[in-house]
Amino acid sequence: MPHFVPRVFSGMQPTGNLHLGNYLGAMLNWIAMQETHECIYCVVDMHAITVWQEPAELRKAIIDVTAAYLACGLDPKKSIIFNQSQVAEHAELAWILSCVARLGWLNRMTQFKEKAGKDKEAASVGLYIYPNLMAADILAYHATHVPVGEDQKQHLELARDIAIKFNNDYASAIDDGIFFPPPEPFITGPATRVMSLRDGTKKMSKSDPSDLSRLNLTDDADTIARKIRKAKTDPEALPSEAAGLKGRPEAENLVGIFAAFKGDSVDKILAQYGGGQFSSFKNDLADLAVAKLGPIGDETKRLRADPAYVESVLKDGSERARTIAAPIVRKAREIVGFIVS
Ligand code: TRP
Repeated sequence: MPHFVPRVFSGMQPTGNLHLGNYLGAMLNWIAMQETHECIYCVVDMHAITVWQEPAELRKAIIDVTAAYLACGLDPKKSIIFNQSQVAEHAELAWILSCVARLGWLNRMTQFKEKAGKDKEAASVGLYIYPNLMAADILAYHATHVPVGEDQKQHLELARDIAIKFNNDYASAIDDGIFFPPPEPFITGPATRVMSLRDGTKKMSKSDPSDLSRLNLTDDADTIARKIRKAKTDPEALPSEAAGLKGRPEAENLVGIFAAFKGDSVDKILAQYGGGQFSSFKNDLADLAVAKLGPIGDETKRLRADPAYVESVLKDGSERARTIAAPIVRKAREIVGFIVS
């Protein structure tokens, strides 16, 4: 079996503001992985247009998400940071993979069913084959590790199935047995699931109509403090250990957020706050959130005001991304029997 360098690939869509769930659930892992792996972080603009986007808003959203990546601590000196559409190999490989994936596999994708809603006939074809493009994103770099949230696990399984089928179908044209390494999902982090501040059973989401449900990475200090003060709780005092949070989703969420910010265990936090009321806990949580998110918000705003710089990061990242993807996709074309001159 050939050796593949460990390589991380992940991406987010440029739609809506990034929020605390993106930060604690994804970004902290992405930042940490920069120290141990070769990392490629993508702004997946081609995925965004699977549902209608106003062009001017999309352009702005690509800058905004990139600014947030940088403000959170993704470092273009350590990682490749780029937008998908500037590397044509994604689209090129997606076509080949669309001829490998089976209709039955895509028919099982639960996210398509959710996003398409009742009127499936009116959904874009792109929304349906979105998982093939996601597979191409990963396989074009021979990425081995893919940090994603729970909701993307099924898409990652599909990417593995596509890689394996490609390797089998074209075995006779592949020298050492494996051309695409099946990527490993990487689902970790202290507070992988950050829930809505208004309903502890729902994920924190940029599409929730209530802005009080989430902490945006660009919220100012007053807004952060107000949202935490208004966060839903229950009438009981805080428990003294993690087991006492069972069946108390709002309390569990707030304590989980606190622990993730502190980098401590939930038990350790509860050893301090157990038996107390939410009000003083919330005051401390608000201070902590402001201390952590405030500088990120300020830096995001500063970078948004300098789109020329942000675009230069994407241009440079796209060129570096292409030097990895181009020879891999070229080889894939050769393997399937195209004439490559
Ligand atoms: N589909 C992912 C999401 O909506 C984003 C994404 C696109 C992605 N391509 C990817 C994530 C490749 C990891 C790897 O969250």
